[in-house]
Amino acid sequence: MRSSAIVLASRPTGAPGPEHFRTEAIEINEPHEGEVLLRVLYLSLDPYMRGRMSDAKSYAKPVPVGGIMEGETVCEVTQSGSPEFKPGDIVRAMTGWCTHAVMDAKRVRHVNTYGAPISTALGVLGMPGFTAYGGMKVIGQPRASETVVVAAASGPVGSLVGQLAMRAGARAVGIAGGKDKCDYVKDALRFDAVVDHRSADFVSELSRACPDGVDVYFENVGGHVWDAVFPLLNQYARVPVCGLIAQYNDPGKGEQDRLPATMSAILRRSLLLRGFINTEFVERYYEAFQQEIGPLVASAQIKYREDIVDGLENAPDAFIGMLSGSNFGKLLVRISH
Ligand SMILES: NC(=O)c1ccc[n+]([C@@H]2O[C@H](COP(=O)([O-])OP(=O)(O)OC[C@H]3O[C@@H](n4cnc5c(N)ncnc54)[C@H](OP(=O)(O)O)[C@@H]3O)[C@@H](O)[C@H]2O)c1
Repeated sequence: MRSSAIVLASRPTGAPGPEHFRTEAIEINEPHEGEVLLRVLYLSLDPYMRGRMSDAKSYAKPVPVGGIMEGETVCEVTQSGSPEFKPGDIVRAMTGWCTHAVMDAKRVRHVNTYGAPISTALGVLGMPGFTAYGGMKVIGQPRASETVVVAAASGPVGSLVGQLAMRAGARAVGIAGGKDKCDYVKDALRFDAVVDHRSADFVSELSRACPDGVDVYFENVGGHVWDAVFPLLNQYARVPVCGLIAQYNDPGKGEQDRLPATMSAILRRSLLLRGFINTEFVERYYEAFQQEIGPLVASAQIKYREDIVDGLENAPDAFIGMLSGSNFGKLLVRISH
């Protein structure tokens, strides 16, 4: 049997292009005992994948050149050599960017989205949603009347961060790129305020949107957005450092002169900056996340948006675009219906 897969053709320096990916036909075996054969339905495209394309030292191993691009998928079980799964079951697994895969059943999880579409298992009810939940619960800890700022606010992490802030009684201020995303954050997600980071007056508009300063800044992007938020941080502000997407294509950018001023502010304003990778919180909080957020998503009390691209062959372009903000909502590739 054959699977179609997208492999890493070469390592990019700077922004990746289509030449860094290649489609290959991969031979796969029938599943043995303890394995399942999966037909991929949805592939999640996530910013962390840019890191896997690089062999710079990181918290996770890089994808080898010629290896299948890493990624989580929602799949249908088509053959099973495990009593835990039967054909027709909907599961999630790290199959990578491909159409079919044989996986060890121990590395496959049943999907429970409480009646919400199964695609949400890769977004608001999956890893990105859990990242927002864990980062806010453990580090952000918003309180009533505080101001919480988050960028990439229309995306799966940022949109849930803001909604969790409002549920805690805090003011949510979103930062997003362009009018359509800003309108969505204000009108559909009902954030208290939104600022467009592409606006020429971004710095002063952000300052006006935060008249009492910033108590929690959930850092998703870095770059010029961090520069604008940093002076607004209040005494004892908390900064869950979740992602730095503005810097992924150019990790050394602007790092040279900032450190002394940053350290001085951390000391003078007693700031808490704490980096995290969501996996750190899985054991302690994943169950609680699903039980708390699942029913809220299914009953539309928590809102989310998906940006679905059709066909595995379109995954590289969609991924490349996401790194400069072309996605609008959780980016997914529909591999099969
Ligand atoms: N620590 C963890 O465990 C963990 C887990 C998941 C995700 N993350 C991180 O969380 C962040 C958000 O992830 P997501 O999946 O929710 O992504 P997303 O919002 O679906 O997509 C990324 C968004 O980042 C914004 N962006 C891209 N380049 C930018 C720039 N130069 N300046 C400002 N904004 C820029 C764009 O939104 P706009 O057009 O609105 O600017 C883009 O749509 C990423 O940094 C990701 O790496 C971390």
